[in-house]
Amino acid sequence: MTKDLVVEKRSQNEIVHDDSTALKVENLSKIYNSTAGRVVALDNVSFSIKKGEFVSIIGPSGSGKSTVLNMVGALDRPSSGKIYIDGIDMFSLNDSELATVRNRRIGFIFQSFNLINRTTVQKNVKLPGIIAGMSTDEADLRADKILSALGIADKKNQKPVNLSGGQQQRVAIARSLINNPSIILADEPTGNLDTKTGEDVFDMLKMLSHKFKRTIIMVTHNPELAESTDRSILLRDGRIEKDAAN
Ligand SMILES: Nc1ncnc2c1ncn2[C@@H]1O[C@H](COP(=O)(O)OP(=O)(O)OP(=O)(O)O)[C@@H](O)[C@H]1O
Ligand SMILES: [Mg+2]
Repeated sequence: MTKDLVVEKRSQNEIVHDDSTALKVENLSKIYNSTAGRVVALDNVSFSIKKGEFVSIIGPSGSGKSTVLNMVGALDRPSSGKIYIDGIDMFSLNDSELATVRNRRIGFIFQSFNLINRTTVQKNVKLPGIIAGMSTDEADLRADKILSALGIADKKNQKPVNLSGGQQQRVAIARSLINNPSIILADEPTGNLDTKTGEDVFDMLKMLSHKFKRTIIMVTHNPELAESTDRSILLRDGRIEKDAAN
């Protein structure tokens, strides 16, 4: 889809939208029907996140944390409910429009890094930029700047597989930033790292939040890290049990 079409589609689908809101989740439900039976993974979940907020999502295993993140990241469609990112009604878009909005407005960071190991760090970081239509020169420049800001510029020609876990996660953070996204989604970004490295990665997310005013949603099992975010949403059995500032 061309840029103009995205803009046109946006104005059609935009709700009356408060400019300080990055994300609005309304009555979101997700039901999985698998061979094991019917699972209500999310049951009528609603919340809003302001631009620049750093929010943690916590709760026991199976409470629906990843499901929320996957819906917000438009990796999957909900059974019912709505999600607005920058006022765009995400699930009113068709799959290809959704892919465009996802690529430009959402940065993803996963527990297992999800980097492409057969190519270099720099190429991993710039790939979402190229997909978004950036020129190679611009993508190179932006990737180098971000890698420098995250302290891993010297690794740019290496393959991710040759880096430490913490360095790989920094590459993933760099990749999540290439298109200057509205929201960064991180599903247990420190889950595969030792305590010290996990804290370093977390500090980097905190720096992005405070210094660069990024909107970040992070799923974590680590209560100390959760308490260091601006606000925590506690899920249990697919429902919000608590939503409070820290
Ligand atoms: N693709 C799927 N098909 C069927 N059920 C699913 C699917 N994905 C998730 N579920 C179920 O939905 C519920 C919520 O899962 P989810 O992955 O969101 O939990 P979580 O809070 O992220 O857990 P964890 O902390 O273990 O990562 C669970 O009962 C899970 O088994
Ligand atoms: Mg999960």
